[in-house]
Amino acid sequence: MPKFIINGGAELSGTIAVKGAKNAGLKIIPASILSSETITIYNLPDIEDISRSLDIMTDLGAVVNKGSDHYTIDTASISHTTINEALANKLRASIMFVGPLLARFGEVKFPHPGGCVIGAGLRPIDLFLEGFEAMGASVEFKENHYHIQAKQLRGCNYFFTTVSVTGTESLILTAVLAKGITTINNSAMEPEIVALADYLNSVGAKISGAGSPTITIEGVTKIGAGPFTTLPDRIEAGTFAILAAVTNSELTISTCRPEQLQSLLTIFTKIGIPYEADKSNLTIKKHGIIKAYDMKTHEYPGFPTDLQSPYTILMTQAQGSSIIHETIYDRRLLFTDMLTQMGANIIMCDPHRVVIHGPTQLHGRKLTSPDLRAGISMVIAGLIAKGTTEIDNIYQIDRGYENIDQRLKSLGADITRIN
Ligand code: EPU
Repeated sequence: MPKFIINGGAELSGTIAVKGAKNAGLKIIPASILSSETITIYNLPDIEDISRSLDIMTDLGAVVNKGSDHYTIDTASISHTTINEALANKLRASIMFVGPLLARFGEVKFPHPGGCVIGAGLRPIDLFLEGFEAMGASVEFKENHYHIQAKQLRGCNYFFTTVSVTGTESLILTAVLAKGITTINNSAMEPEIVALADYLNSVGAKISGAGSPTITIEGVTKIGAGPFTTLPDRIEAGTFAILAAVTNSELTISTCRPEQLQSLLTIFTKIGIPYEADKSNLTIKKHGIIKAYDMKTHEYPGFPTDLQSPYTILMTQAQGSSIIHETIYDRRLLFTDMLTQMGANIIMCDPHRVVIHGPTQLHGRKLTSPDLRAGISMVIAGLIAKGTTEIDNIYQIDRGYENIDQRLKSLGADITRIN
């Protein structure tokens, strides 16, 4: 099984460019199903999750072509509406295909989606199913598959009892071709949702309010397809910013949108990490002592759960005690056990909260990447640890970070991929 070998202690320097956002790419690919015209997508990251999503498209019968800096997807030849089980098992975002297939073809069959194990049991899809039903679809579960059908989807008024990013996006995608008006209340407000709505509007949809808690979609009978440029990945940018801070290196993170990282950068100022930012570059400067600071994850524009694990590593290097409160997923702090094995002083209060006392010297260990975000955090921990860290199950890291070992090497990191 491929693994990373990391020798800690190297100071990093230079510039690292941010790739396209995974969680935007994973929505625009299924969104292409809403039209039988050909979409052109620029700046898709070359990562495992995007490859699996494109595999689902191909499996459905669409024609996917890779150009020098873009992909085209021709959905005119989609020949069936059953989402491949093996592919769905690999990817939570396989659920994003359901709304568009239902909207265009009136039915869809799919298994419960897989993906990162970061919530108790199977990550639920009850809100998606409720949304489809509210729009007039029937939902059946038989032989391990959901079977959803709708002769004519109709607009509805839906309130999300839990704010859900993919839930909001799924309902938008389902409502674009429905009859009448759909209002989504307590919507998620992530920038990737705004990007999706902007694209759909550019090809004929009528969506207003994306980026606010109330989104309104006026159904249309047809949309076209056009060019879409994937926005930069704010989680990758934030991860690199924390990497710079943890290793006390001056790094410039280019082709990013610092204004989408306000929750992180506000904390940086409070804890003593200087930085400079313009519209698309962020430079993290060297710092003195870092102060411990409590953090609670929150939906956008709050502190992203996807940056919780790198921030936790940062707090192991801060002076004093901090509480990390993970409010969104109940398994996302379990990786801290590995940090404790590396020498961190972390006490787990309950599945949602840990207390960290710092600073502590970390020591290299043999580790397994449990999921994508904890996996990249293990890499960051390895880069500051004394000695050698070995991380296996790095498929989990490749799911979301393109060519990460080579890109970190170019900054001076001592990291090797063993195949
Ligand atoms: N939830 C339900 N029922 C549902 C759907 C969600 O109870 O039907 C709950 C979840 O269990 C969770 C909460 O709602 O407690 C929020 O989950 P959400 O639905 O927002 O998560 P998601 O849409 O599945 C997306 C990203 C995640 C990111 C979260 C939160 C994609 C493909 N995934 O997930 O990204 O952590 O929003 O920002 O967009 C990652 O990139 O590593 C990742 C996990």
